[in-house]
Amino acid sequence: MADSFNESTFATFQNVSGFSSEDLALLAHIAPAVTPSLPKMTDLFYERLSADPATAVMIEGRVDALKTTHIAWLNELFSGGDPQAIVAHQEVIGRAHVKAKIPPVFVAASMSFLRATFPYMLASVITDKAEVTAATTAILRTLDVAQYLIDRAYLQGLMDNLGIKPVLLNRLMTT
Ligand code: HEM
Repeated sequence: MADSFNESTFATFQNVSGFSSEDLALLAHIAPAVTPSLPKMTDLFYERLSADPATAVMIEGRVDALKTTHIAWLNELFSGGDPQAIVAHQEVIGRAHVKAKIPPVFVAASMSFLRATFPYMLASVITDKAEVTAATTAILRTLDVAQYLIDRAYLQGLMDNLGIKPVLLNRLMTT
């Protein structure tokens, strides 16, 4: 899969986590059972964001539009689309949040919400226990990939602001 920042770091992420295009294929396989529940999950997510004063101000006045975007994002994870394009899209999303000045802790908290919610949701819509376990593994790994790439966009934004070149940052982070 493509990695515009540093191919080897993403390869290592895959090697260690076990994430592969098979995870996305599995998510596509269970999509018919899962996707009808994504709008309700998104409503719950935006209730949480609206209930916290720090996140509420960032979404005020555009909750409906953001919900549509969020459901589209979740659907993409279950779409069976080109894995490289799906991975690359997470970097674009990261850059959009950097540009919108959304603090990374909000994205981390949101991913935590999703990681806590998906296992229960999957268990409620899939009957085969082994499939629930496999699907849970696949979505958790996929969310981890998304968060890694979004976080990396924040780091890249910081580097750009400080005038640090990617090659130097890699050296600083591995010594
Ligand atoms: C799991 C975490 C999140 C995901 C996956 C996500 C996903 C997305 C996506 C797909 C977009 C559209 C990006 C584009 O136009 O290319 C977007 C935009 C946006 N998101 Fe999120 N989001 C997350 C968390 C948050 C949080 C916590 C907030 C605020 C508290 C937030 C606020 C926004 C805003 C304001 C935009 C619009 C940016 C703009 O175009 O002005 N997002 N998000």
